[in-house]
Amino acid sequence: MIRVSKHPGYQATGFQHDRKGVFIFPDFGDTGIMTDYRIGVLGGYGRVGQHAVKYLAHSGHSIIIGGRDLDRAQIAVDKLGECATPHRVDINDTESLQSFCGNCDLVINCAGPFEKIRDKVALAALAKQKHYVDVSGTDSFYANLLPYREEIRKKGLIFIISAGMLPGLSGLLPIYTGQSQFDLVDFIDYFYCGMDEFTYTSAYDYVCSLNDGSGMSMAYCQKGEIVPKGAGLMHDVKIPYYEKPLDAYPYSNGEMQRISEKLGGCKVCFYYAFPGGHTFETLNYIQASRKYSTDDERHQSAELLVKSSQKDLIGNDIKQIYYIIMDGKQKGANRKVLYQTLYSRDGYELTGTIAGITSLLILAHRTTGPGIHYLPHGLNPNVFMDELKAQAVIKHFILNWEDETIMEKGYKRQ
Ligand SMILES: NC(=O)c1ccc[n+]([C@@H]2O[C@H](COP(=O)([O-])OP(=O)(O)OC[C@H]3O[C@@H](n4cnc5c(N)ncnc54)[C@H](OP(=O)(O)O)[C@@H]3O)[C@@H](O)[C@H]2O)c1
Repeated sequence: MIRVSKHPGYQATGFQHDRKGVFIFPDFGDTGIMTDYRIGVLGGYGRVGQHAVKYLAHSGHSIIIGGRDLDRAQIAVDKLGECATPHRVDINDTESLQSFCGNCDLVINCAGPFEKIRDKVALAALAKQKHYVDVSGTDSFYANLLPYREEIRKKGLIFIISAGMLPGLSGLLPIYTGQSQFDLVDFIDYFYCGMDEFTYTSAYDYVCSLNDGSGMSMAYCQKGEIVPKGAGLMHDVKIPYYEKPLDAYPYSNGEMQRISEKLGGCKVCFYYAFPGGHTFETLNYIQASRKYSTDDERHQSAELLVKSSQKDLIGNDIKQIYYIIMDGKQKGANRKVLYQTLYSRDGYELTGTIAGITSLLILAHRTTGPGIHYLPHGLNPNVFMDELKAQAVIKHFILNWEDETIMEKGYKRQ
């Protein structure tokens, strides 16, 4: 856990764990001060928010759990003890939202659906001059915030969006791997395969993302640009931790463009592999019938997605797999191929933990500086990953090197 304090004379010293990975509380000398910052978590008793709160409960700071239902906030507080307080807040009520933000040093937005909230919380945080973290973060959200960039910078504030699993870690992980393992990256084939239950809120946002124009199927990225119709369906891909080979669907968006840019223009082919037949069928149905144009349609489609994800989970374990095959040069001319697998449990827990880590890094001034950032650009990926890997939500993080011959035998690049 990162050590950070407002206490005069205290220097942030980075993450401190004992040899078993257990958090070591900061030593504030004889002052006994442990809780310095006030971190507000909007949606703090939701599926994502409760995990952000759980992670932060060990940080020594005060947590304010916000939502419209004070009883649910109180139940969450009761589980945490003295470090937390409940706060009734309605994001749609400007006064209530500003009063919540005014009470915090940093605001984390885990409330949703994002598509109904958009920049409301960010602008309230800005009005009250507070740092801001959002677990959501599409390109259009970034564009919404751009007119405020100078004001955010001048006020010395740090806004980090896409501080979640996908988007978020999905963008940071290849950058971390590429920068730490290669001199030059040529290609990345990148598979994401998740088995989890959709909450209604997350399903609603997923349905909206099908229609927001931010991504493109059957595309890859190179030199920071999306190349349409460049990639095709991959059949029978063997994804680690899934018994049966899966079909993988190419998809590109701004996050993949930024990976390519950051790693010197390399080719990035990203694929979704769907292990759950019901969810995949429902998504196909929603897309083919374009059931996302009206709020009523989005609501019905979200309900369908929730049900199909529940069906898919019967007899299956919840898991999130990021599988990266990266090809490039290391120590001069040698060509190397790397296979990296990150296996995490519950994606909501992963997202909440990511938001918690991001918040502590902001408060410890361990970011790239004031402004609006996507997760991979606002933080040092090494520092972030060191902390994430130490969390129980990451079950395995495995890196293997192979030579070209193995790659040519079992796997075909497009
Ligand atoms: N980046 C990623 O990888 C990732 C992954 C998962 C989820 N997400 C995003 O995370 C967000 C939360 O998802 P979830 O699955 O955790 O949803 P959830 O379990 O339904 O929680 C939503 C929370 O938001 C609160 N909320 C909703 N409207 C509110 C309002 N007007 N004022 C105050 N609080 C409000 C809810 O409390 P009340 O209704 O009681 O107020 C609840 O606590 C969604 O936007 C989702 O898309 C991102």
